[in-house]
Amino acid sequence: MLEVLGSFRRTHYCGEINENNIGQTVRLAGWVDTVRNHGGVVFIDLRDRSGVVQVVAEELKNPEAYEIADRVKPEYVIAIEGKVRRRPKGTENPKIPTGYVEVVADRVVVLNTSKQPLPFQIEDDINVNEETRLRYRYLDLRRRPMLNNLLIRHRTYQVVRNFLTNEGFIEVETPLLTKSTPEGARDFIVPSRLHPGKFYALPQSPQLFKQILMVAGIDKYFQIAKCLRDEDLRADRQPEFTQIDLEMSFVGKDDVMNLTERLIKEVFKQVLGVEINGPFPVYGYDYVMDRYGSDKPDLRIKEDVITPLIEITDIFKETQFKVFKNVVDKGGIIKAIVVKGGGKSLSRQKIDELTKFVQKLGAKGLAWIRVDENKLTSPITKFFSEEEVKNLLERVGAEVGDIIFFQADTDRDFVYKVMDALRRRLADELGAREEGFKFLWVVDFPLVEWDEEEERFVSVHHPFTMPREEDLPKIDEALATEDIERRKEILKGVKSLAYDMVLNGYEIGGGSIRIHRTDIQEKIFKLLNIGEVEAQEKFGFLLEALQYGAPPHGGFAFGLDRVLAIMVGAESIRDVIAFPKTQKGICPLTNAPDYVDPKQLKEVHCKIEELEEE
Ligand code: AMO
Ligand code: AMP
Repeated sequence: MLEVLGSFRRTHYCGEINENNIGQTVRLAGWVDTVRNHGGVVFIDLRDRSGVVQVVAEELKNPEAYEIADRVKPEYVIAIEGKVRRRPKGTENPKIPTGYVEVVADRVVVLNTSKQPLPFQIEDDINVNEETRLRYRYLDLRRRPMLNNLLIRHRTYQVVRNFLTNEGFIEVETPLLTKSTPEGARDFIVPSRLHPGKFYALPQSPQLFKQILMVAGIDKYFQIAKCLRDEDLRADRQPEFTQIDLEMSFVGKDDVMNLTERLIKEVFKQVLGVEINGPFPVYGYDYVMDRYGSDKPDLRIKEDVITPLIEITDIFKETQFKVFKNVVDKGGIIKAIVVKGGGKSLSRQKIDELTKFVQKLGAKGLAWIRVDENKLTSPITKFFSEEEVKNLLERVGAEVGDIIFFQADTDRDFVYKVMDALRRRLADELGAREEGFKFLWVVDFPLVEWDEEEERFVSVHHPFTMPREEDLPKIDEALATEDIERRKEILKGVKSLAYDMVLNGYEIGGGSIRIHRTDIQEKIFKLLNIGEVEAQEKFGFLLEALQYGAPPHGGFAFGLDRVLAIMVGAESIRDVIAFPKTQKGICPLTNAPDYVDPKQLKEVHCKIEELEEE
């Protein structure tokens, strides 16, 4: 067999064979996609990376080749030599590029067999649980849609590298074995053998190093960087994921936004052939929260079908309806959305399902009003005055056939959360999304927010994010008072120079202008209750670097996996990652994480405390 291989030189990829090759002798190698014996004739669909071509072995013409072809099974690895001919009339397959031709085998060599039966068929659409797909990832990746995802990923790397290189960026690698980075997740840690009791942290992002590269005068840095975060996983989160990470010196917020917007447009154009026209809309954080209940709104949702959130708190100041009255009295809010034509499209059963859906999120209920021909149908209008009904209908602009949904709570953010989830769910149910890609920028984030659990302010972005210049005096004002409530009030108005890029309802990237002056940085640490000792211990090296002529700088990081998942229309980012982890953080292929040899533990000076039997 090896002898044969030695003399075998592949002339073409399977998917390349077409009418131009008719009459030529070709040599191909690949996997048996399907094999069918039609009595005296065996048809093999031979597959490699490029596609599939039909190979024919005929008993009468070439008994030897026929005999071997007859014995092959799906996913055997074979090489063939044969002549390309036009397929007989009526047997063409116009759906594939090789569909007008076939290769008549003179020689068939089995290079390797494959275990049978396969865990699943190698087909575009399969109905197999993800754990099995991940365990046999090498089979899963043989499927065309998965290969396409990897190809698109590869093209994207190239476009990014070209674009940024042309813009004067330098690609620099930063370490994986490092110290903790403050991106807000838990660190993965690695025990040191040489330094007993000490640990490296795997980077949550290259944040601190890229800032130090700016101090080093690199001016424009980028990296396609692995980031590691030990956090709870979801469809759009992995413990290790990839960022297109960049940082620039002597720039303002608009420069970074302009560059990253051009970069993503170039990727969509070069990789997908899709032109994204016009500048992305730029919205303030307060605006998107108030209007969509989310800082990553899905602008594809048709607003003439599902309206944005409508403020109606003031209408119910004196209401008899206890649910609303309680909320208003306690300083809460009431928001409404209207589903146009929802009277028809949403049955009572659907409304019950939606109510259960919001209750799962913690909502107390989901009040609604259906506007029928001559009356209102609703479990709550009986509690409303005529005036309230009139004002409400006017405010929300509801017409016959519409349904209005309400959410009332003392916690404003909770109302936002529920209404955002409800709008997304309704859009799924009603198919009320426009096609395509809807980008936007979200800016003017609050600099800090109060963390109830930790009982301190925490950065919304990270502690090195520059506040808006006009808000600097407010920080002094907040620091001047010990009254936490007063501080909260003042800090509500302090916005940062951070920006998020949002696509189709997902945050696909974010960044900020950084603090490059020690005096401002110290104030922020004070605000965050990070003491001098703690600051020195955690990021002393950055603080020191900032003292040696740090230029003004800012940057950005795209979540590459999320961008790709949206580009290819994948439901989960796992479909654009060659070897992802499951929702539980497991790799079914390698079975990581796994126990290690006690000797290995000893070498790194670690001891496992008693483990509960699993
Ligand atoms: P941030 O933490 O916002 O910023 O991360 C940037 C982008 O990375 C993506 N992302 C993730 N993707 C998959 N799995 C995850 N677990 C995950 N976590 C984040 C998101 C996000 O927008 N150093 C800063 C950037 C900067 O300021 O320059 C940073 O890491 O799409
Ligand atoms: P109840 O008086 O609790 O039976 O509620 C009357 C109606 O208001 C029901 O349709 C509930 O689903 C709804 N509802 C209850 N609490 C809320 C709330 N916080 N926000 C919106 N609707 C609610």
